[in-house]
Amino acid sequence: MIIIKTPEEIEKMKVAGRVLADVHHELRKIIKPGVRTIDLDTFVEKYLKERGAYPEQKGYEGYPYSICTSVNDEICHGFPTEYILKDGDIVTVDMVVNVDGWLADSAWSYEVGQVSKEAHDLLEVTRQAMYKGIEVAKIGNRLGDIGYAIQSYVEPKGYSVVREFVGHGIGRDMHEDPQVAHYGIPGRGPRIVEGMVFTIEPMINLGKKELYIDKNGWTAKTKDGSLSAQYEHQIAITKEGPIIITDQGDC
Ligand code: MF3
Ligand code: CO
Repeated sequence: MIIIKTPEEIEKMKVAGRVLADVHHELRKIIKPGVRTIDLDTFVEKYLKERGAYPEQKGYEGYPYSICTSVNDEICHGFPTEYILKDGDIVTVDMVVNVDGWLADSAWSYEVGQVSKEAHDLLEVTRQAMYKGIEVAKIGNRLGDIGYAIQSYVEPKGYSVVREFVGHGIGRDMHEDPQVAHYGIPGRGPRIVEGMVFTIEPMINLGKKELYIDKNGWTAKTKDGSLSAQYEHQIAITKEGPIIITDQGDC
């Protein structure tokens, strides 16, 4: 069942979204060679506490950390560890922020120091792919239009779309209906209506789409060892078009 949100509820999620956007702005300054991924987790947990917010992922279905940090061939749900980020790495930081019971969810991929052109282009294309999906998230369109917009943008460039993880409705719960695939057929799937709030979060691989789950039971990694990137925004559907709840300004 899709839970439709009122304008007042959307405003509450925007408060959480503002905090989350600020976290990403801080992370952009902190992420550089020599920093451990666990340091990012510690930073975010403290930062959120100071802002009166809570890291919703911590304890969610037993997930042990405040954020996910997915490095290089890790697709998503990477554990923050003692791993020291090095020049040329890419890292995706994903988190869900809870302010007064309302949630905001956004992931962003970052370059560590100087990365290869291959890696840089993957990040650019993945971010653009997310915005292609957001562009067609309009009243009257269908969810298949979003998946198609993303898939038809990235595949001709030789990249692949991860199938196992999808966008999702969100509100007071992290994962609500509907599921939003990042591949699809135009004109198919549930119709997009006013008051829907969901994420669009394509995970795009430089190589093939196949993945496996690490022995930690959480982290998805590319089977062929290729790089993977992800950008995720949470959006609300309004008569004026999609509003980006986790907007970071000029990013
Ligand atoms: N933020 C993730 C999403 O986009 C969820 C992470 S799963 C968790 O759906 F268990 F780690 F929280
Ligand atoms: Co997320």
